[in-house]
Amino acid sequence: MNGCSDDAALCSLDDIPDSGGLEASASILVLRRGDDAWAYRNVCPHFSIPLNYEPNTFWTYDGQLLMCAHHSAMFRFEDGACIDGPCLGASLTSVPIRIEGRNVFIDDAGKG
Ligand code: FES
Repeated sequence: MNGCSDDAALCSLDDIPDSGGLEASASILVLRRGDDAWAYRNVCPHFSIPLNYEPNTFWTYDGQLLMCAHHSAMFRFEDGACIDGPCLGASLTSVPIRIEGRNVFIDDAGKG
């Protein structure tokens, strides 16, 4: 899979560590808890830089929270809301996805 087609899967659920995150493309982070997944632009609203410091390494807690590697802002998996840290009240930018089988696709059905 090369990620060039709209129909190409971003990744498989099985590529994402359970209760963790995967850098599914250069700019998209996919978080997973069991059979659920959420995708966000990999940009922290604090300084508009990637949430991770090392490639494809994301700090998460109990499959509930993602922590920015720079200044420790904490974001909920479900809605990307920052619940603690320097950008409290801000949110990650959601990327709509759908899961078919065990593959995760960008869901652009709502565009237009
Ligand atoms: S850049 Fe993410 S908390 Fe500062």
